[in-house]
Amino acid sequence: MAPDQMSRYIFQGLMNTPKCFPAFALFEGQGSALYNAKASIEAYYPRWAEVDALQSHADQVARLLAAEYAQTGRNINIIELGVGDGQKMYLLMQALADEGLLEHTTYRPIDHSASALSEILRTVSGWEFPVSVAPVNATFCEMGQHIKAAEHEINLVVWLGSTIGYLTSSQRYSMMDTLYEQLNPGDYLLVGLDLKKSPERIREAYCSEPNPAFFLNAIHVINHHLGLQLQAGDFRHVFDYNDESGEAFSRLQCQRDILCECGGYQFHFAKGESLYVCSHHKFTLDSFCTLMQFHGFEPRITIQDNDCLIADCLTQRSRKRVPLRDATNALKDIANIVMGSPFDIASF
Ligand SMILES: C[S@@+](CC[C@H](N)C(=O)[O-])C[C@H]1O[C@@H](n2cnc3c(N)ncnc32)[C@H](O)[C@@H]1O
Repeated sequence: MAPDQMSRYIFQGLMNTPKCFPAFALFEGQGSALYNAKASIEAYYPRWAEVDALQSHADQVARLLAAEYAQTGRNINIIELGVGDGQKMYLLMQALADEGLLEHTTYRPIDHSASALSEILRTVSGWEFPVSVAPVNATFCEMGQHIKAAEHEINLVVWLGSTIGYLTSSQRYSMMDTLYEQLNPGDYLLVGLDLKKSPERIREAYCSEPNPAFFLNAIHVINHHLGLQLQAGDFRHVFDYNDESGEAFSRLQCQRDILCECGGYQFHFAKGESLYVCSHHKFTLDSFCTLMQFHGFEPRITIQDNDCLIADCLTQRSRKRVPLRDATNALKDIANIVMGSPFDIASF
C-alpha cells in the first residue's frame, strides 16, 4: 500500500466518532517486533497453543494434501495471509517435507508489512529444507488484485494467529467473500481462531506487559504518517471483553485534553476519550463452523492444543454457498454488521 494511502486511512479514522485506527497499521515501524515480544510471553496463549496444535497435528493436513497430490498430480500453492515469525509455517512445511511434497510446493506469504516479509524470507532461507517462496506485499483488502488461485494447482490459504479475530464482522464478511471468489471449488482454507474461554484468561493474555507497548505503537504510527507529535505517555491501553458476544477491543484512552493540527484540520482528543486500535473476536467452534459453511467453506479437519484454547480449522471451498434463507445461525453474525462497530470505517 502506498504510504499516502495509509496516511489517508489513519486521518479518516481520527475524524471518525469514536476515533479509530486501522489495526493492521499496528505492525508498522517497531510494530512487528513489539508483536513478537508480546506474543512470546507465557500469558499470551494464542501463540504457543497454536504451535502446540501444529506440532502434534500438522501431519493430518499434510496427509490430506499428499492424498490429493497422489490422485491429481497437481502442485501445491500455499498462500499465507499475514506472516509471523515463521515458526508455525515451519511446522507445516516440515510435515509436507515428511510426505515428500516440498519440491511440488510454492509458498506465497502475503503481508502489508515489507519488513515482516523480508524477515520471513530470511527465516525461510535458514530452514534445513529448500522452499520456493514468492512474497506478495499487499493488504488483505488488496489480495484479490494479487491472487487468483491457479486452477491447475491445489491451493491452500493459511490464515493463522487468530488474525481473523482482528476483523469486524463486516470486514470478515467481505474477506470471506473475497476468499470464496478467489479460490476454486475444492481449494483449502486453514484458519486459526481463538476460542471463548474465561474472561480472566483472555484479559491476562492481552493486558500483561509488554502488550500495552504494542497497542501504543499506534501513536508512533500516527505521528509518522500525519506529522503529529502526540506522546504515547498521554494514552493508556484499555481492554474490554464481552463474554457473551466474544467481542474484545483494545483502545487507547487519552489522559489529558490534547489539541493538534494536521493539514489545517484540528483534532481534539478530550481527556478520557478513546482511540479504538484493535478488535479481537473470540469464537465457539460451532459458531465458527456455521459461519464457514455460510461463506461456502466446508469444515474438514479441526486441530487443537491439549487445553483446547485455540483451534485451527481446515475447510474446503464448496461449489455453492448456502442460500441466505437457510443460514439461520450465521445470520446472528450478519446482524452485527447492521449494528456496526467503531472499526467498520477502518480499512483492512
Ligand atoms: C497477528 S500477526 C499473525 C502472524 C502469523 N500468522 C502468526 O500466526 O503468528 C498478523 C500479521 O498479519 C499482518 N496483517 C495484519 N492485518 C493485515 C492486513 N489487513 N493486510 C495484510 N497484512 C496484515 C501483520 O503485518 C502481521 O505480520
